[in-house]
Amino acid sequence: MVGGGSTYTPELIDGFARLRDVLPLKELVLIDPALDRLEKVGGLARRIFAKQGHPGTISWTHDLDAGIDGADAVLLQLRIGGQDARNQDETWPLECGCVGQETTGAGGLAKALRTVPVVLDIAERVRRRNPDAWIVDFTNPVGIVTRALLTHGHKAVGLCNVAIGFQRKFAKLLGLSPDQVELEHIGLNHLTWERSVRVAGEDVLPALLAEHGDAIADDLRLPRPLLDRLGTVPSYYLRYYYQHDAVVRELRSKPSRAAEVAAIERQLLTLYQDPALDEKPELLARRGGAFYSEAAVALTSSLLGDTGDTQIVNALNNGTLPFLPDDAVIEVPATVAATGPTPLPVRPLEPLYAGLIANVTAYEHLALEAALKGGRDRVFSALLSHPLIGQIDYADRLTDELIAHNREHLTWA
Ligand code: G6P
Ligand code: MN
Repeated sequence: MVGGGSTYTPELIDGFARLRDVLPLKELVLIDPALDRLEKVGGLARRIFAKQGHPGTISWTHDLDAGIDGADAVLLQLRIGGQDARNQDETWPLECGCVGQETTGAGGLAKALRTVPVVLDIAERVRRRNPDAWIVDFTNPVGIVTRALLTHGHKAVGLCNVAIGFQRKFAKLLGLSPDQVELEHIGLNHLTWERSVRVAGEDVLPALLAEHGDAIADDLRLPRPLLDRLGTVPSYYLRYYYQHDAVVRELRSKPSRAAEVAAIERQLLTLYQDPALDEKPELLARRGGAFYSEAAVALTSSLLGDTGDTQIVNALNNGTLPFLPDDAVIEVPATVAATGPTPLPVRPLEPLYAGLIANVTAYEHLALEAALKGGRDRVFSALLSHPLIGQIDYADRLTDELIAHNREHLTWA
């Protein structure tokens, strides 16, 4: 696990421990440059395994090559620049009147530019040591990072917890177990809609909205009438589009999410040091990573065990959405086997969705170009192409801000 010193790690460990029949893990290595965090997180990880009687071993190292040696799967959950860099991504775009968010808009582009070269270097080293290993990418922005990995020929799948979160939430509202609920989930990472919710082959989304529409809308902080009008359920990331200016006003009036997360992380790391703690603490639920362990266990076990079951992942389009290039990365249900994910066919998509998806796909293409090749012009083009930016003045100012705030992470700047 690269980025194993993350405060999220105990969430994953908890899943590995509970679901050891699904994924019989033998050896887990936490890899992170921050040794002090590794000690704290690793110590708790071992206690969680011990408490649950898990026979697997857990070790940690700051040496990437040693850590990945012999791995069947490499999970990426790193964050270049930590919460400080995220805090910047969430702050300077607001000064230009644009949304400040870690994956959406200009902040997301900054994160992509910092992250893609590092992830490609890691993937290259994985390929040299273990050419058969699967890379499961949680590192944001997942769509762009996965596209970088796949266009460089790596064995990679991108994963996000938005879909599994909806599946769990809807199952609870319906009084069913999650595996009885099948989502027709469509779009790009952090730009998705649930088009139908199938139970025993029947679409229960209209009934779900009729009965629980207010609760669902409240949770997403989107207006209920929008859900009724669409007849689909957008992810909460669509708020940054559908209510952009209102979100900007709101974000300007309060501390950044990065600042909030940094405070939670300080408390978590203190808790993790307590030798009496042997389970993931309640406080971890205040982070956005709910169910990501379950998604990671399911995906890894299907890739390594060649199950051919259906999961919602980030994979190459390859004609699934005919209006996108084949090398776009989309987030859809796919069958997952030892050969990787194969997206299931998708019903024709209405213009309201297809238009935005196509636009953001073009942005992701240009963002990846900028991340791979650098240069002010490429950053400017990516920003100009983004549906939330799109004007020369904004794109120019944001380009300067992005470069100024990220110089230490950009080799070309
Ligand atoms: C959700 C998203 C992740 C994102 C996280 C942020 O889980 O799917 O991609 O990283 O939220 O949570 P945080 O606690 O860091 O704000
Ligand atoms: Mn995500």
